[in-house]
Amino acid sequence: MFENLCRLREDAILGVMTKFRADPSALKVDLGVGVYRDADGGTPVLESVRRAERELLESQTTKGYVAAAGRAEFNEAVIDLVLGRSHPALTSRRVMGVQAPGGCGALRLGAELIHAANPTVSVHISDPTWANHLPLIGGSGLRIQRYPYYDVAERRLAFDAMIEHLNDTPEGDVVLLHACCHNPTGADLDPGQWRTVTQILLRRRLLPYLDLAYLGFGEDESADAAGVRWIAQHVPECLIAISFSKNMGLYRERVGALLLVGASEDQTAAAQSHVLQIARSIYSMPPDHGAAVAARILTDPQLRASWIEELGTMRARIQGMRSLLSATLGRLRGDRDFEFLQSQRGMFSLLGAPPAAIERLRGDYHVYMMADGRMNLAGVTPGNVDYLADAIERVLR
Ligand code: LMR
Repeated sequence: MFENLCRLREDAILGVMTKFRADPSALKVDLGVGVYRDADGGTPVLESVRRAERELLESQTTKGYVAAAGRAEFNEAVIDLVLGRSHPALTSRRVMGVQAPGGCGALRLGAELIHAANPTVSVHISDPTWANHLPLIGGSGLRIQRYPYYDVAERRLAFDAMIEHLNDTPEGDVVLLHACCHNPTGADLDPGQWRTVTQILLRRRLLPYLDLAYLGFGEDESADAAGVRWIAQHVPECLIAISFSKNMGLYRERVGALLLVGASEDQTAAAQSHVLQIARSIYSMPPDHGAAVAARILTDPQLRASWIEELGTMRARIQGMRSLLSATLGRLRGDRDFEFLQSQRGMFSLLGAPPAAIERLRGDYHVYMMADGRMNLAGVTPGNVDYLADAIERVLR
């Protein structure tokens, strides 16, 4: 049977990770895969995670199954974190959570749910977007359309074009929105723009599907959820996919959740029952360890406070490196504006250089970023910023 298969190209993002690891150069700089790095280039286990893991190890008495929806206390804590305790969707019991194997698992569960509810709708996804959105959503059989989101040449949102697209979107379709720290552009909607988008979603009866993978990497954990909270308060239905890979550094543990907000408690429960059946037919139950750790961190006041502090440290470091790279490049190339690096948020920004320049960065200078010029700014350090800026300046000449 396998003779019918030809070898596929490597995944766009994971391929860059593999190439970086294989490069023996001492000069190499990793701006590829979206993983937080400290000033030494490492991705350490958070102290709050270590403590929660220690406590878990001492107190856990069984490895028996938990449940198809995962840990109830995890799902509840995630809803509290994302929507806030007094959110109307919560007080009217219209929100339910399902623990998922990472943000990817949550995104796919949501796509499968949409397909089960109405296989003819399209999902509208920003252009550009995170490379894996397309196979994750499209793999469910749903059609994908793209809405303009970012003007690479101008280095800012293409908001008017986005609005024009949404105004023409057929009723009942789905709109995937990055809740904060847009991947790959770092350009987010402001509060007024969230309101405008919400009005269109309501008017056109569109289902918002929010991807929240970087909570806490923009401003803080509640400001970064403001767009999600606003939408969930004003539309009858929405889906929210959450990841704890970045903000708790739990990448390999696969910790995520899908939140379902329905028009009524009954409708939400019906949707949840479908999600559980879908999960059962793919992987049965989500992995427990990472979610048990996350639940402990979110529910224990001391652990939570220590996590919030660590999250703040990660955010401040990325912001600091954004400013440093922006200033260093600005000094080398006074004719070009690199201010966008400082004002955009989260891990990523697009360099805005042609593919040949990105190739040269890798081939000649051992600087690794995505082929579209997406840079993970967490890979910048005070030690590599001069080398990096110099390499960028050379390939931009
Ligand atoms: C990224 O965007 O690089 C990360 O989310 C890692 C991944 O799985 O693609």
